[in-house]
Amino acid sequence: MTQAECRQRRDRLMDKIGQGTAIFCSAPMAVMHNDVEYNFRQDSDFYYLTGFNEPEAVAVLAPHHDQHRYVLFVQPKDPERETWTGYRVGVEAAKERYGADEVYSITELSDKLTQYVEKADRIYYHLGRDQSFNTKMLKLWQHCLRRYPRTGQGPIALEDPGPIVHGMRQIKDPQELNLMHQAATISAAAHCRAMDYARGGCYEYQVQAEIEHSFRLAGAMGPAYPSIVASGDNACILHYTENKRQMQDGDLLLIDAGCAVDYYNADITRTFPVGGRFSDEQRLLYEIVLEAQMQAIALAQPGQPYQAMHETAVRVIVDGLLDLGLLVGDRDTLIAEETYKPFYMHRTGHWLGLDVHDVGIYQHGETSHQLEPGQVFTVEPGIYVSPTIQLAEGQPEVPEPWRGIGIRIEDDLVITETGHEVLTSGVPKAIADLTR
Ligand code: GLY
Ligand code: MN
Ligand code: MN
Repeated sequence: MTQAECRQRRDRLMDKIGQGTAIFCSAPMAVMHNDVEYNFRQDSDFYYLTGFNEPEAVAVLAPHHDQHRYVLFVQPKDPERETWTGYRVGVEAAKERYGADEVYSITELSDKLTQYVEKADRIYYHLGRDQSFNTKMLKLWQHCLRRYPRTGQGPIALEDPGPIVHGMRQIKDPQELNLMHQAATISAAAHCRAMDYARGGCYEYQVQAEIEHSFRLAGAMGPAYPSIVASGDNACILHYTENKRQMQDGDLLLIDAGCAVDYYNADITRTFPVGGRFSDEQRLLYEIVLEAQMQAIALAQPGQPYQAMHETAVRVIVDGLLDLGLLVGDRDTLIAEETYKPFYMHRTGHWLGLDVHDVGIYQHGETSHQLEPGQVFTVEPGIYVSPTIQLAEGQPEVPEPWRGIGIRIEDDLVITETGHEVLTSGVPKAIADLTR
């Protein structure tokens, strides 16, 4: 993440908040067990605006302040602590490298923060998971409100910065797109490697190891989310991550895995026959999912309603299940009554970016959000015939050969001025390319 882009983002945000002061807090450290912590993962809004990748930091944007529009509070240098927990940028270097007008030690937060808030007309702050920081912000606000009758100025509202910042994050800038291309390319190569490797007799965790090895070897931070390597019946569990079964020829293997590059994520799913040949039932369902995905992808154009992709995928899937006799009835009724949901229970995609399920809205009341250039999202229809699937009354019993088949195909797309680009096209999905 380079400072030029972060500065542009801060400037745009400051244009929008005018007389307000925005306060962003870094992510807390998370405990894995006892005194062992997970690797630090920065808060996405904080990282987007600062590029600063340390815990115990606070960023303040006060466009109305006469001297300091952008202020950082960071951990001070401490050679002894750094020996244990790693390098800290420190106050001096942070000012130079991160473009802040002023930098303080985080230990000075309560003394120094008030001056950036007391003349603002509102505080933009997200009430997040860090309860103690929430309490600090509420107390600061309360302090300002008490002064209001005497000064006639100060923040009279606390507002979530999400609608502004997340609206910005929803449209990726060129640097973000570059990182997302890298994440997608590395993830696609890892899927190809997994396809070459997976054979009857392999354990799911061995395939996972191949994928995650590829991620790190190529310089990615690691998995964007716990890798799903689900063979046979396991593919019907949407977030299966145990990855411990031994796969067999005849199984389908569903792999949902992607890496993160500089915190930007990829999210790819492929489903293929471990033994190189689809059974008839597997192939027929696969063809439906692929058709649903292709038809949804064709709608990924600027100006199209986002929801059209899901609606189309659902129609293709329901038509396909009707053709196979796995559902009976009228297509539109089956959709309106959600009778198809035992086969397809999730949405057809989500925004993708610094978060895997990225921020940004999908819907404005009754109206779908319309796609715009720079938006990045997944398209991931599926069909899942769990071994214990139960359809609504009046629907047929699902015959045994269909049970235990789970299929999802997921690609990452960016909307361009004229259409879209599939970032993850490096992994095959055509039946001819998945069989041997
Ligand atoms: N891997 C999570 C998802 O596909 O949304
Ligand atoms: Mn996804
Ligand atoms: Mn996925």
